[in-house]
Amino acid sequence: MDLAGNTVLITGGASGIGFSIAERFSAAGSKVIICGRREEQLRKAQQKLPSAHIRVCDVSIESDRTALHQWIAEEHPHINMLVNNTGIQQRFDVTAIKEDWGYFQKEIQTNLEAPIHLSMLFIPLLAGKNNAAIVNVSSGLAFTPGAFAPIYSATKAGLHSFTMSLRQQVAAQHISVIEVAPPAVNSDLGGAGLHTFGVPLDEFADAVFLGLANGDMEIGYGTSQKALRMSRDEIDEAFRRMNSR
Ligand SMILES: NC(=O)c1ccc[n+]([C@@H]2O[C@H](COP(=O)([O-])OP(=O)(O)OC[C@H]3O[C@@H](n4cnc5c(N)ncnc54)[C@H](OP(=O)(O)O)[C@@H]3O)[C@@H](O)[C@H]2O)c1
Repeated sequence: MDLAGNTVLITGGASGIGFSIAERFSAAGSKVIICGRREEQLRKAQQKLPSAHIRVCDVSIESDRTALHQWIAEEHPHINMLVNNTGIQQRFDVTAIKEDWGYFQKEIQTNLEAPIHLSMLFIPLLAGKNNAAIVNVSSGLAFTPGAFAPIYSATKAGLHSFTMSLRQQVAAQHISVIEVAPPAVNSDLGGAGLHTFGVPLDEFADAVFLGLANGDMEIGYGTSQKALRMSRDEIDEAFRRMNSR
């Protein structure tokens, strides 16, 4: 994939993995648009990356997604890449629920409904563009669920499945569909401090960029690279190991 000369929308691009990817697209000579819920966080990102365009948008809300699409169609009609990066991770025990359903629904809306809906909204804008692509950020936990984050793992497995079907359906429109499955990466996912054991952001983002440049359709790193090709027996073994700690 050519990483220069693109117009790229990155959801959740103001911090974490999304921002690291935004920095690299920008450095490679692409126009970057980032969205997120917190305007202040977007402004801070723009200070670090002055060429970035910013937009407040909560992708878990349907009307925000359609408004984002309409704004991009009007303001950035040359868009040729959508990176569905946004994700939240909620850790809970299904036998000791304290929150109401809306709390759990938010994780499904953010991690699964949003990338599905945004992909469908943006297909007509991407179709026919040079180097058109949709990049969906799933997780190693799509393949070996983390029992500590049951909805998160299920949404990522669902996103992996949708990504495969999407790739097949939009092939005729020459839209590449790429899955990025991160391992644990040192970001604020799930709350500050929960992923400090993960690989450094820059190390992971460099690997993603190498994979994109090589034209890889599924990009993992370290443990998640292995998870992408595991047999069912290997998945069961990895699941036992991870969840018996
Ligand atoms: N870090 C890991 O270990 C890891 C592992 C596997 C997969 N991943 C995946 O990688 C992706 C990026 O995660 P990350 O690690 O970079 O997490 P992060 O550090 O928590 O960053 C998430 C970003 O998404 C934005 N965001 C959250 N909810 C949003 C919403 N409803 N609408 C719009 N923006 C929203 C946040 O900004 P606002 O709060 O301002 O909205 C933030 O900029 C996620 O899909 C995650 O599941 C991460």
